Amino acid sequence: MDKKKNKWEESVAKTLKRFPERKETFTTSSDIEVQRLYDAENDQRERNYPGQYPYTRGIQPTMYRSRFWTMRQYAGFGSAKETNTRFRYLLDQGQTGLSVAFDLPTQIGYDSDDIMSEGEVGKVGVAIDTLQDMETLLNQIPLDKVSTSMTINAPAAVLLCMYIAVGEKQGVPLEKLTGTIQNDILKEYIARGTYIFPPKPSMRLITNIFEFCQEKVPKFNTISISGYHIREAGSNAVQEAAFTIANGIAYVDAAIESGLEVDSFAPRLAFFFNAHNNFFEEVAKFRAARRIWAKIMKEHYKAKDPKSWKLRFHTQTGGSTLTAQQPDNNIVRVTLQALAAVMGGTQSLHTNSRDEALSLPTEESARIALRTQQIIAHESGVADSIDPLGGSYYVEALTDEMEQKINEYLDQIKEIGGAVQAVEEGFMQREIHQNSYEIQKNIEKEEEVIVGLNKFKMDEEINPDLLKVDEELEKSQIETLQTIRKKRDQEAVDKALTELKENAKNTDSNLIPTILDAVRAYASVGEICNVLRDEFGEYTGL
Ligand code: 3HC
Repeated sequence: MDKKKNKWEESVAKTLKRFPERKETFTTSSDIEVQRLYDAENDQRERNYPGQYPYTRGIQPTMYRSRFWTMRQYAGFGSAKETNTRFRYLLDQGQTGLSVAFDLPTQIGYDSDDIMSEGEVGKVGVAIDTLQDMETLLNQIPLDKVSTSMTINAPAAVLLCMYIAVGEKQGVPLEKLTGTIQNDILKEYIARGTYIFPPKPSMRLITNIFEFCQEKVPKFNTISISGYHIREAGSNAVQEAAFTIANGIAYVDAAIESGLEVDSFAPRLAFFFNAHNNFFEEVAKFRAARRIWAKIMKEHYKAKDPKSWKLRFHTQTGGSTLTAQQPDNNIVRVTLQALAAVMGGTQSLHTNSRDEALSLPTEESARIALRTQQIIAHESGVADSIDPLGGSYYVEALTDEMEQKINEYLDQIKEIGGAVQAVEEGFMQREIHQNSYEIQKNIEKEEEVIVGLNKFKMDEEINPDLLKVDEELEKSQIETLQTIRKKRDQEAVDKALTELKENAKNTDSNLIPTILDAVRAYASVGEICNVLRDEFGEYTGL
C-alpha cells in the first residue's frame, strides 16, 4: 500500500474515534457491500469505447452528443379523445416520442361492454375497443415522424395491427412505422399479471410478431423485455437485470426454435428497466446489463450483426419509490433516478409525476416530469460527454460486481431449464417476494429511510386537485362500441374471425395477417381475443 494511503488509513482510524460511521456496513439494494473508498487498487476501468463491443460505455459512438435520449412519457386515461389531447399537449411541450398506457380491459383482451370490464374502462389507461378508437387516439399525429411505444402484452398482436391499420389510413408505408410493442409475456407471469393465454401459445404470438415485423415492419421494435415491473414487484437491482436478461434469452430461444435466424430479429429486441434510488448501483446495473447481453448475443448465439449485440433500453423512474406523503419530494427522487438513467446510457426515458402515488398525473405534474428531463438534457451538462462515470473506481468496480452477481443468477436459471421453466416453478417469483419482504421490514424498522414516510414526517392535507377519470366514460365508450358493431361490415368481421379460428389451430401459421384483416374490418379487441381464448385456453397462474 502506498504512503499516501497509509496516511489516509491512519487519519480514518483517528476520525472514527470521534465520528464513528453511520452504519456497520454499507450495502446496495443487491446486498453488495459498498467500500469506504475505491482507488487505483480497484482500477477495473473498461478499456472499450462507446459504440464498441461489449458496449459497457454506451451503444452509440457519440451517444447524447448527437441525439438526446427520447423523452417518452407514458400516458393514457379515459377515452381515446382525451388521451389524444394529452399526447398532443406533451408533444407540444417538447416530448419526442409517444408511449401509450391502455386500460386494464384492453390489456387483458376484454371489450368495454364485457362484464369483466365493469368499473375499469379508461381507469389506468386509455380504452381501446376497435380500430376507430385507435384512429381517434392517433388523430393528427404523423406516424411517419413519431415513434410510439405501446404497453400491451397478451393482446399485443391486436394493438400492433391496429397501429399498422392507422398507418395505412395515414398513407404511411409499413416499413416507415417506428415504435415498440412491449409484447413481453414472461414478466406478466412473474410480476405484472396482464396475461391471458398459457405460455406456449403466448410465445407463439410473440414470435409471430418477430417474424411478421422483420419482413413487413422492419423499423418496429418487436418486444420491450421488461425489468421495470420485476423491480416494482420488489426485486433488487441484480434480480431485475438477471430475470430480464433470462427472459430475453427465452425469447431468443423461442424465435430460433420457430425457425428464425438470430440476426433477422435480434436487432429489434429492446429492453425496459427501472431507475431506482441507489444512484451508483443503477448506473452500474445498466452498464453491466449491456455488457452481459452483448456477450450472450455474440458469444453464445453467434449473432454476426453488431445491432444484435446492442442492448437498447427505455427507462422509467421507480414508481414504487414515490410517496403519497409530501408529494413534491417525488420531484427530487425522480430527478436523481432520471440522472442515473442518463448516466447509465438509456435510449428512452419516462419520468414519473409527483402525484402518481395518488392517481394518474395531472397535466401540470406531467409537465414538471417532462421538464425534469429537459433540464437534465439542456442545463446540467451531463449529456455533453459520453459515459461520464466511466473510469470511476467505484462505478467500474460496482459494474464488475453486478455483472458477476447477475451471471450467477443466469447460471441458476439455466440449471432450472431456462426462464419459462423458472417462471412455471415460481423461482423468480419467490426470489422477488423474499426481497420485497426484506425491503418492507427495513422500512418499518427505519433501517431504510424514506423521507416523509418514516422520517421527517409532517401533518399534511392530501393534495385535492388530482386527476379524476369521468365516470360517464364507461357508458359513452360502450355506446361508441355498439354503434361500430351496427355500422361495420359484419360479414367481413365474421370471415376474418373464422379464418383466425382456423389458423390458430395450425401452430405453423403466422396469425398476424389474419388479425390484421380482422382489425381492418373493425373487429374488436375482445372479439379477437375471445377467438384465441377458445383455441388456446386461459392461463390460470401457478
Ligand atoms: N448515434 C447514431 N444513431 C443514433 C444515436 C446516436 N447517438 N442516437 C439514436 N440513434 C438512432 C438509433 O439507432 C435509432 O435508429 P434505428 O432505429 O435505425 O437504429 C434512432 O436514432 C432512434 O433512436 P433509439 O432507437 O435509440 O430511440 P427510440 O426512442 O426510438 O427507441 C428503444 C428506444 C428503447 C429502442 C425503444 O424500444 C423504445 O422506445 N422503448 C420505449 C418503451 C416504453 O416506452 N415503454 C413504456 C412502458 S410503461 C410500463 O410498462 C409501465 C407501466 O406498466 C406502469
